[in-house]
Amino acid sequence: MLKLSGLTALLQCLLFVAHSQTTVVKLRCENKYNPVGVTLQHPDLSWELNASGRGVQQSAYEIRLGTGRQGSSVSRSVWNSGKTLSGESVHVPCGTEVLHAATTYYWQVRVWDNQGHASPWSEPTSFQTGLSVASDWKAQWIEPGPRDSGQEQSPLLRKVFSTHKKVLSATAFITAHGLYEAFINGKKVGDGCLTPGWTSYNKRLQYQQYDVTALLQHGDNAIGVMLGNGWYRGPLTWDNHRDIYGKFLGLLFQLQVTYTDGSTETIASDGSWTSATGSVISSEIYTGETIDDRLERKGWNTAGYKDTGWSAVTVAQYGYDNLVSTFNEPIRKHETFKPIKIWTTPKGEQVIDFGQNLVGWVQLKIAGKAGQVISLEHAEVLDKAGNFYTENLRSAKQHDVYILSGEGQESFEPHFTFQGFRYVKVEGIQGTLNPEDFTAVALYSDMEKTGSFSCSNALLNQLQHNIQWGQRGNFLDVPTDCPQRDERLGWTGDAQVFSRTASFNMNVDNFFAKWLKDVAADQQPSGKVPHVIPNVLGPEDGGSTGWADVSTIVPWNMYLAYGDRHILEDQYASMKAWVGYMQQQSKNNLWNTGTHFGDWLFYSAGDDADGSSAVTDKYLIAQCFYAHSTQLLLNAANVLNKTSDLQTYTALLNEIKQAFVKEYMTPNGRLISGTQTAYVLALEFDMLPESLRAQAAERLVENVHRYDDHLTTGFLGTPYLCHVLTRFGYTDVAYTLLLQDTYPSWLYPVKMGATTIWERWDGIKEDSSFETPGMNSFNHYSYGAIGDWMYRVVAGIDETAPGYKEISIKPHPGGKLTQVDADLQTYYGTVGSHWSVSGGQLTLDVTIPANTMATIYIPAHSADAVQENGQALSEDKDLVLSGMEEGYLKVKVGSGHYKFTSAQ
Ligand code: BGC
Repeated sequence: MLKLSGLTALLQCLLFVAHSQTTVVKLRCENKYNPVGVTLQHPDLSWELNASGRGVQQSAYEIRLGTGRQGSSVSRSVWNSGKTLSGESVHVPCGTEVLHAATTYYWQVRVWDNQGHASPWSEPTSFQTGLSVASDWKAQWIEPGPRDSGQEQSPLLRKVFSTHKKVLSATAFITAHGLYEAFINGKKVGDGCLTPGWTSYNKRLQYQQYDVTALLQHGDNAIGVMLGNGWYRGPLTWDNHRDIYGKFLGLLFQLQVTYTDGSTETIASDGSWTSATGSVISSEIYTGETIDDRLERKGWNTAGYKDTGWSAVTVAQYGYDNLVSTFNEPIRKHETFKPIKIWTTPKGEQVIDFGQNLVGWVQLKIAGKAGQVISLEHAEVLDKAGNFYTENLRSAKQHDVYILSGEGQESFEPHFTFQGFRYVKVEGIQGTLNPEDFTAVALYSDMEKTGSFSCSNALLNQLQHNIQWGQRGNFLDVPTDCPQRDERLGWTGDAQVFSRTASFNMNVDNFFAKWLKDVAADQQPSGKVPHVIPNVLGPEDGGSTGWADVSTIVPWNMYLAYGDRHILEDQYASMKAWVGYMQQQSKNNLWNTGTHFGDWLFYSAGDDADGSSAVTDKYLIAQCFYAHSTQLLLNAANVLNKTSDLQTYTALLNEIKQAFVKEYMTPNGRLISGTQTAYVLALEFDMLPESLRAQAAERLVENVHRYDDHLTTGFLGTPYLCHVLTRFGYTDVAYTLLLQDTYPSWLYPVKMGATTIWERWDGIKEDSSFETPGMNSFNHYSYGAIGDWMYRVVAGIDETAPGYKEISIKPHPGGKLTQVDADLQTYYGTVGSHWSVSGGQLTLDVTIPANTMATIYIPAHSADAVQENGQALSEDKDLVLSGMEEGYLKVKVGSGHYKFTSAQ
């Protein structure tokens, strides 16, 4: 650390004064930058304060909103908040009276800090409103003709129109029954993939809104749209159910053009459009796609194309009531991978290794003969003998086929499918494969990367990598269980288990807010929550403990991570209905009925001769989650000020816990299931009387030792295991589990070469054989829930007020780690915790964003052992010392950068 001489310190101080002006940056509306399709009357506005000094707080703000911008100012004013005394800089409601449909608004902010200094106005930024009422829609639903529900080929739809005046702006509103790719004058509209995404279509179908001004040309213009079966009518689930949402593909397309003379025109889907089929001869999510380039209708989406022989479309009446604007980020293309190895397997298969288990597809660029068929099959792993292995895909084929036209260099990539793979088996190319011809592209919902975690242990870094890739691969518009076999469904249990970790790695605020609307939409009138959302399994399948609790756990986790009370307001009825369902299913508030998945995929020993499988009573688990959901409902009621619910559910919670103790605990505090999961859940959810908790934690630790320091938890116990150990003073045991590298453990798959999180602790066994192919995904994020402990405990970054308005930094050195670096982008700015241990000294480097407060816990024997920037702490006016607590010196700070050292 640099020790400042008196003169340097003074100089630095002066520099600081000169540069310390606060500016306002990163303006977001509804958590997005410059969003289009905003339909809320009072959308949320958020901004970050960029301030280099310490202890900077916002004391007031002023927002101005208008329909124009001139240079650095908003013009044509619509609303001005005036100087508003408030520390809020996140989720501030836009206070204007009326927002008009399909209109661009510009806004900017300035703030006053706690010294009363005003910032300059921020740069103006915009949001565009969407269509929110049925009468905004002029377009008609059209279906390709002749109407044929069984048709496999992806239909093309087309319309030519003319513009003879200068275009000021053009906005397209598009959605489909099925998936769509839209073009204007041959150029793709937007860069989203698999649009319109997946929702409970019949209740909520999202439309996308695009600024297409730059795609229009003077004179004739062509709109071309290709449709695919996708989730709408393609086969879904292990039973390959077809037509879940409808039999017929359809399009709704509305283009609103404003000319420079102020006049407007709407071009909309109607009976004047024509349709045909093209080169995509089949495409299904699980199966893959076949493209025959010989059938490509060249220029079909441009104005000059002659569409002789195209059919008339059918106008259909579906109404507009289920249409909603798009809330979350679209799926986009992200990382690309080139082959790291191409070889021939013992079976003689030509296989490419892309080095990473990813979700997306392969782009092929190749020249060949007309009619040449190139087949690409996708797999996650190789078998013991080194051959291509697809048994774990069950009935999913993951097979893309490209048929060449023979006309020079050809480029292929699928449109309406995606594959989970690391390896690709290629057929149809003579001789050695050229790595240049193949590129794997990762697809996932476009979530901002917010978290990073790395440390001195390379295996843990690989674990973090695997967690992040598990998230990328399974956040495809909905949180899926896995991306490769015949499932890829929004399994609720998996999503709740991983949701908190997910909120560290990436901004999943809108991703989950959108999906939770489907949770509520698909919830049964009884309050029962389906196993998968969107629910494609039918009304009976739901209500499993730990799965259905997604309805309380995810809203609460999102509230903690992003501080937006709207998510609680929007989901409150759903949360309450789920608790009501459990209450209704219980007798004397003991819930011991129904079918449950239990602690899914817990450790189980081969023939279990000695009974060492970690089976936890399912009703014991159900009682724990019944309490947990009730607690979260109470938390929400508290935030939303629902006083009568507070009383009702406080009483209920007590009864649930009493029923638990009576049914599942011996008078000495032993649980009827002696498993790690039983103790973890009972402790995490405070099910036991306080006086019996410490001894229950001891029993948990004994259990860990009984398994030679291994975990035995399944989906439900795993997320809380290390947290409970830390809470009861056994962080050392938690580290032992984290660093364990034999089965079952987090690092066992890492040692076996995993690049994602596996569904099972032993997906590949030590002898390289596989677990049963019926249930053996190599890209299942649930066990990645340990990521939350790595951020919150190892690095020690946690919120103490929702959304990180108040922060706790409490690192837990251990596990022989010598260095940990973690950062989190919050809506206030970057929170950083970086610690290292060397030569008997701990260094803790902390970053706290402006307009927040933090409590920093510095591992230390005494206050005297700690220095900040080389100075004894008492000399520093920016810190408030709050005494020693369990081996930490507690210090309260405002924003800024702090570097502590502590003699160990
Ligand atoms: C999924 C799981 C899911 C489970 C329900 C599986 O087929 O892949 O992850 O939660 O079913 O037990």
